[in-house]
Amino acid sequence: MIEDKQRWNKKYLVSPMPKESSDILINSLHYAHKGRALDIACGMGRNTHYLADNGFSVDAVDLSDYALKQVRQADNINKIETDLDSYVFEEDRYELILKINYLDRRMFPHIIKALKKGGIFICETFVKTPTIQGYHNPTNPDFHLNLDELPQAFRKLEILLYEEKDEINLRGEKVRVASFVGRK
Ligand SMILES: C[S@@+](CC[C@H](N)C(=O)[O-])C[C@H]1O[C@@H](n2cnc3c(N)ncnc32)[C@H](O)[C@@H]1O
Repeated sequence: MIEDKQRWNKKYLVSPMPKESSDILINSLHYAHKGRALDIACGMGRNTHYLADNGFSVDAVDLSDYALKQVRQADNINKIETDLDSYVFEEDRYELILKINYLDRRMFPHIIKALKKGGIFICETFVKTPTIQGYHNPTNPDFHLNLDELPQAFRKLEILLYEEKDEINLRGEKVRVASFVGRK
């Protein structure tokens, strides 16, 4: 949606985003065979760049043209500016799919189909904790996972890692984060 695109472009201009690649990607990359990777909602490319530097050919998808401009031009990076609400994943395509700090539950079954046999899915995003004191929670709960949701949603995969832990977000608020790595 055009409003989402404008909202994210504006957000990138006013709020800092982490520049370092995600620890979960760095620590789990060894599970994946080199080949084609998909970075879902890649933002400014901190993880796309890490994948490209480590020999993957990356489809980097995001709706923010501002964010995608920060993603480097390279032979092994295919920038795709599109709305994931209507984006169709090619089946049996990827050695690795990454989804960090973005949630759209409707794509869960499509992620499983888009992985090749043996392909790795790495996911990390926020968990909602409305009944526990002291945590920041989103205004729209659709954008946060439920406790223990990922192992259920991706039970068709072999689970290589699942953990939920506390972190401090960029605004200094306490948040709960779920980390998942699975193999098809
Ligand atoms: C919190 S950022 C995370 C970026 C990146 N994964 C990272 O960890 O640095 C969320 C990203 O999702 C993108 N996004 C939000 N809704 C989207 C949609 N419907 N289609 C494509 N991208 C979307 C935003 O533009 C933004 O870049």
